[in-house]
Amino acid sequence: MNGDIPPEGPLGFRKKLLVTGGAGFIASHMIISLVNSYPDYLIVNLDKLDYCASLKNLEVISNRPNYKFLQGDICDSDFINMLFARENIDIVLHFAAQTHVDLSFLHSLKFAYVNTYGTNILLHAARLASVEKFVYISTDEVYGASSYEEFDETSPKRPTNPYASSKAAAENIVLSFWERYKIKHTVSESETENWLVYVNDRPVNDLQYPMKLEKMHSLGWRPKVPWKEGIQKTIEWYNSNFHNWQSSEQTLEPFLHEA
Ligand SMILES: NC(=O)c1ccc[n+]([C@@H]2O[C@H](COP(=O)([O-])OP(=O)(O)OC[C@H]3O[C@@H](n4cnc5c(N)ncnc54)[C@H](O)[C@@H]3O)[C@@H](O)[C@H]2O)c1
Repeated sequence: MNGDIPPEGPLGFRKKLLVTGGAGFIASHMIISLVNSYPDYLIVNLDKLDYCASLKNLEVISNRPNYKFLQGDICDSDFINMLFARENIDIVLHFAAQTHVDLSFLHSLKFAYVNTYGTNILLHAARLASVEKFVYISTDEVYGASSYEEFDETSPKRPTNPYASSKAAAENIVLSFWERYKIKHTVSESETENWLVYVNDRPVNDLQYPMKLEKMHSLGWRPKVPWKEGIQKTIEWYNSNFHNWQSSEQTLEPFLHEA
């Protein structure tokens, strides 16, 4: 948008985006990028502020007029329905989830509850509010591990842990809303690479999740930073910002226990 603010809509912003889980690892970067790139869009960050959340990562945009933070739980249907009624949301980017694979074996019911029930609550509210688009952030883990076969969204789902199972279930619920109500949706399977440090292995560990990249490349996406440079910058950033999270020290343990 290059700083040119197009005409405002009747409510002051051209669009209103709801980003769930915006105080988490991935969505906090998405929010910073959206707030900077779209000054005419209101970006509403809804986050419960669970143990893995950090509002410190959002300080660079926290005072901007097109950013708003709401603390709340996606599983609280009254709160979610009220939010949609009040905020006139146009687009939902749904990142909020319980994400820690090891913890998912200890708390599989909680993972199923937040990741599937919470997604249901959001979908119902989004449908009633006639939102334009619902973007569900899934995971490449829904396909299980493979050392040779590349996956795309038509591949069979073979999750190997309760986290991935709950994400796969939620993905199917999003697709069923499309079948029934034709809610425009996008399912995104983000792929991340991990820096290896030598700790005890997880009780169950998938070696890798190879994803086909043709579709992403056909949209024009290319990495701007080479992997080695990116991982080095990432480590430097975490070294400088280690205490942005309340329970940072615990993350050095190979198996996190819930705070
Ligand atoms: N990190 C990865 O490697 C990866 C890879 C593929 C897909 N994903 C998906 O991307 C999304 C974001 O992942 P992340 O790594 O940033 O996760 P994260 O754990 O860092 O962040 C999740 C955020 O969701 C919030 N949250 C949890 N329960 C909530 C609830 N009931 N109501 C409101 N907010 C709640 C937390 O407070 C946190 O801020 C998830 O849906 C995850 O499944 C992540």
